[in-house]
This record gives sequence, C-alpha cells and structure tokens, in this order.
Amino acid sequence: MGKVSIVIPTYNEKENVEVLLEKLKDILEKENIDYEIIIVDDNSPDGTAEAARRRARELGIEDKVKVIVRKNERGLSSAVLRGFEKAEGDVIVVMDADLQHPPEVVPKLVRKIVEENCDIVVATRYSKEGGIKEWSPIRKIISKGASILSWILLPKSRGLSDPMSGFFAIKKNVIEEPLKKGIFNPKGFKILLEIIAKSNYKKLCEVPYIFQKRYSGTSKLNQKVILEYVIHLLELARYTGELKRMFKFAFVGLLGIFVNEGFLYLSYEILGLRELSQLGLLLSSAIGFEASVIFNFLIHDKYTFRDLIDTFTLNAKLKRFVHYHNASILGLAIQVTVLFALVSMGIHYLIANLIGIIMGMSVRYSYSILKAWSQS
Ligand code: GDD
Ligand code: MN
Repeated sequence: MGKVSIVIPTYNEKENVEVLLEKLKDILEKENIDYEIIIVDDNSPDGTAEAARRRARELGIEDKVKVIVRKNERGLSSAVLRGFEKAEGDVIVVMDADLQHPPEVVPKLVRKIVEENCDIVVATRYSKEGGIKEWSPIRKIISKGASILSWILLPKSRGLSDPMSGFFAIKKNVIEEPLKKGIFNPKGFKILLEIIAKSNYKKLCEVPYIFQKRYSGTSKLNQKVILEYVIHLLELARYTGELKRMFKFAFVGLLGIFVNEGFLYLSYEILGLRELSQLGLLLSSAIGFEASVIFNFLIHDKYTFRDLIDTFTLNAKLKRFVHYHNASILGLAIQVTVLFALVSMGIHYLIANLIGIIMGMSVRYSYSILKAWSQS
C-alpha cells in the first residue's frame, strides 16, 4: 500500500488537534501504514497551528505533519480542497479534528479501499453498527432531513446512507481531474457531495462508525451553514441536470391537467355520467384524475426518469406505477390540505391554491424519485 494523506481542517481546535495527532500516530504506526497528516488551519486565534507543530515535534513526527495556515480564507470545504492539493498519498482521508471521527476507524477506511478496490469509502453513522453519541433530537432531525434532501436533489448520493458525512477516504486519482479543472465548489461544509456529484468513480463503499462527543471546543455548524447547504444542493442539482429533471416533471404535470380535463369532459358529457348528478361528477373527476396519472406516468417512465431505471420488466414497471400512483394521491391530498389551511388563515384562495399546487408537486416529485424511480 502506498502513502496515505490525512487531511484535517481546523478552526480553533488547539486541544483537540494535540490529542488527535498522538492517537493517529499510535494507530497508524501499529497498523504499519505509511502516512502524512495535512492540517489546514484558517489562522485560528487560539493558536491551533502552533500547537500542532509543537505536538508533532514532541511526538517526533514533524516530517510527517504539514501544517498549512491560510490567512485570508475561511471555510471547511475550501480548507479540505487546499489539503487535497498538497496531498502526496495515493489515498486521502478527510476527517474532523475534534475527535468526533474516531481515529481507530481510519485504518478501516484505508483497508477497505485497498482490499475491496473501492474508489470512495464513506464512514457512516446510519448503518447497523453505526450511531451517534450525544446529539440533540433537533440536530438528529436536521441531519436526517438534510440527507433526504440530498437523496432527492442528488440521486447519485442515494448510494450513501450518510451523505452528510465529513469522514471518508478516497483514491487520489478520483479527484485529480476535477481538482485540476477547478470544478469543485469551495463554498460550504459538504465537500463529500461535491466529490460524489463531480468526479468519476466506480465503487462506492461504506464503513460504520459511531460519531463521538466533541472532545473540546464548540461546533462551527450554525443556521447559516444550513441555509448554505440548501443553496449548495440546488447548485449541484443544476450542475448534474437534476434541476432540468424537475422542470420536465412540472411540465408533464401541466400537460396532465389537459388530459384530466379532457377525460372529465368525456365521461361527464359524452359517456353520460352527468345523469348521475353529483355522483356522476365525482366519478368523472376520478376518471379524469386516473387518466392524467397514467398519462404522466408513461411520460415520466419514458423520459423524465428514464436514466434512473435499471429493470425494464413489466413487473418492475407496474411497481413503479403503483408508487407513482401513491405519489399522486399524496400530492393531491397535500395540495387540497394546504389550500384549505391557508384560506382558513385568511390568505386569498388563488394564492393559497398556487402554494398548494407547488407543495403538492414537490411532494409528488420527492416521492417519485425516492420510491418509484429509486433504483441506482
Ligand atoms: N480550516 C477550517 N476552516 N476548518 C473548519 C472551518 C473553517 O472555516 N469550520 C470548521 N472547520 C473544521 C473544524 O475545526 C473541525 O475540525 C471540522 O471542520 C468539523 O467542524 P465542526 O464544527 O466540528 O462540525 P460539526 O461537528 O458540527 O459537523 C461535522 O460533522 C458532521 C457530521 O459528520 C462536519 O464534518 C460536517 O460536515 C458533518 O456533516
Ligand atoms: Mn465536530
């Protein structure tokens, strides 16, 4: 096995980084792994960089520890990218400095790359043996919600049970090209999603771990980071063409309205359901709805989500249809509920209806991509 570069972004992690260096040294030496540690510090006021250099000297590993200090830049992702540029190893590991990512997991990530020929190995909290120590329920919900959002907006991330992970190993050659081309977005917290979206890799693997309690200091994640995350995802969705997919979906939905109206008219007027008065109207509207669902489904299956299908049997298609049907009913229910709720709050019914349609459509889309066209 070649050299492993461990990239660690730091901001005010003085005490943590001292402990982490010692642990990494012990573990990697014991495992006979040739390594270098690249600390990318944004000129932390607490003197993290100095402390890291001193500790490396004390441990006798100053030749293995590079400390980069950035004076005019801030940000987790851009710090990691800087580390990538400096990395000399064939395998790169990215981890936090605060010991929430247990150093004992590092050899597992690296070994998996070598033994199973994975291109990317992500440490996950959301698998049987994974978990989280000491996180508030709110933080857990935010993390889960953020994961679901990434599965919707970035289908490539569906191979990850923990797309929010900041702890992973990659083969250097996976990122070399996009790095050279400068296509990685240096903003934000989620460098892993950048890599998933923009680099070419074949095998994606996972290793479970338990997210530990912060050893010392405080988290840098705040509300601004969450908002930036959503913007970041939308940018990635544009980059990968997912935004286009959403527009296609909405457009097909629009066409479906005409089908709906047409079949309603047909059954009410021409088939004569009008004679049954209210029941006839109800039946006709159900026929209109079903016709539009079938129509939408056929187009979505052939165009909108075609690239996400890997089984083309009739059986699989029927399954997708049942899911899409559920998605449509759920979407309609949401649309109507939002309409009534907003009107009761005094909002004009046309505006309320528009918001209802948009929300119903979003739910329909999310359910479709997460359930009906969820292969790959
Ligand atoms: N250089 C640099 N610049 N480093 C930073 C910056 C920055 O602006 N902001 C944060 N870091 C470093 C921290 O010093 C720490 O080593 C690491 O990035 C993670 O930051 P935390 O503040 O500890 O984040 P967290 O624990 O809330 O979130 C982490 O875990 C989540 C779950 O895996 C991050 O890794 C998230 O990306 C991840 O989703
Ligand atoms: Mn942390």
